Amino acid sequence: MDFNEMLLNRESCRAFNGQPVDRELLLQVVEAGRLSPSACNAQPWRFILVDEAEALKGVQDALVVDGGATGAPWRDKVPAFIVVCEEFANTMPIVRQHYNTTQRFVPLDIGLAAMNMCYKAMELGLSTCMIGVCDQDVMEQRLGIPEGHTVWVTLAVGYPAKETAPRKKMRKTIEDVCSFNHY
Ligand SMILES: Cc1cc2nc3c(=O)[nH]c(=O)nc-3n(C[C@H](O)[C@H](O)[C@H](O)COP(=O)(O)O)c2cc1C
Repeated sequence: MDFNEMLLNRESCRAFNGQPVDRELLLQVVEAGRLSPSACNAQPWRFILVDEAEALKGVQDALVVDGGATGAPWRDKVPAFIVVCEEFANTMPIVRQHYNTTQRFVPLDIGLAAMNMCYKAMELGLSTCMIGVCDQDVMEQRLGIPEGHTVWVTLAVGYPAKETAPRKKMRKTIEDVCSFNHY
């Protein structure tokens, strides 16, 4: 599948069949995150692979916020999650001092890693969905994440319950999002 086909065919999966994902495949997915670019090459990420029952339950619980709201009502069928939390970036002192880039770039860097992981997963025949909202405290408690290591995104990874036909993307038009030389 060439890149354009991947762009057109990738979609978020919200129905998994529950089949476990081989750890070797999960590690290949994380490798795509590990090799991603980051501002100042700071690599401000830590990937927590979750595939055992107790930890899975912990993540499922952490995906519920504000008395029951969740971005992933289908979370119980997800066989693996990749929880991406912030690792304190080891930037050059001059950068830290003058531009305070670390904080501004961390979510951007982690977003890039997350996207690369989604495409790698797709290449491996896996489906994914990024999940943005979580209860930080619950995530910290259940996965032993030290305080301050913000969870920026959680990837649900698995096999789709059924193959969905590639659909036309609901996207803004090129004219809506792009212009030459002026806003
Ligand atoms: C940062 C981020 C957070 C997201 N959080 C959720 C979520 O909590 N629940 C969900 O079902 N989808 C979530 N999504 C998936 C988006 O809804 C999805 O990417 C968008 O609707 C476009 O659809 P597509 O991925 O199928 O092309 C998230 C996507 C991103 C990039």
